[in-house]
Amino acid sequence: MALFGKKKDALPAPSLEDIVLPVHVGIIMDGNGRWAKKRGLPRKLGHREGAQVFRTITRYCSKIGIKYLTVYAFSTENWKRPEDEVGALMGLFKSYLQEALDDFQDDDIVVRFIGDKSGFSPELQKLMDDNIEISKDRKGMVLNIAMNYGSRDEIVRAVKNISEEVREGKLDAGSIDAQTISDHLYTAGQPDPDLIIRPSGEYRISNFMLWQSAYTEFVIMNKLWPDFRTADLDEALQIYSQRNRRYGGV
Ligand code: FPP
Repeated sequence: MALFGKKKDALPAPSLEDIVLPVHVGIIMDGNGRWAKKRGLPRKLGHREGAQVFRTITRYCSKIGIKYLTVYAFSTENWKRPEDEVGALMGLFKSYLQEALDDFQDDDIVVRFIGDKSGFSPELQKLMDDNIEISKDRKGMVLNIAMNYGSRDEIVRAVKNISEEVREGKLDAGSIDAQTISDHLYTAGQPDPDLIIRPSGEYRISNFMLWQSAYTEFVIMNKLWPDFRTADLDEALQIYSQRNRRYGGV
């Protein structure tokens, strides 16, 4: 596996019990299409496998004590894909969000969405709202599912809302600072991600949590998302634990 920054003579990775876990993990679930293509299958079957991995990894993160998990499921740009593929993804969202109503209950997972919900069908929007409502008093991990999400769009919305508050006299323009921006993003009130994992070997951020990832550690893994297993997550956590975070200091 190609790991960014891993030295050949690095010490053996510490076990999960010995490491400081990131509080907030983001995952760009990439590589479904290539996984299918490699097998001569339609892309939508790659998404089907990817959705199962999403469920397994989400439950695993909750079990090991991650407090916030944000998964990138559908970007504002993904509407440009062929109709058949977008339709298959909408079908998967429906069935997994239906299952999530019960499925994530045992794990005590709080389900939230980041992105513009209004882009989805009324049926899917209702399932999203039902998941939020049913899980809101749970005490476990917060799962943010990024759907119809784009970070530039998120920042534009924040700026518009802030401008409106200034115009209405609720906010003094001179008092606007970085926290004001954070407070107007979909992730308001949540800590910034400590670690973002991108499987599939691509070195790109793809419009994901641009503001929130100012000091995030990135781990790129050379595995396609449908092949991603809990052991790969462990490996990413171990790599993260060996990083020296300086936040611009020394
Ligand atoms: C990117 O791979 C993946 C997506 C655009 C879809 C991700 C969605 C899932 C895994 C389903 C999750 C389900 C729920 C309910 C959250 P790609 O198609 O861009 O892969 P490629 O780069 O190999 O073409």
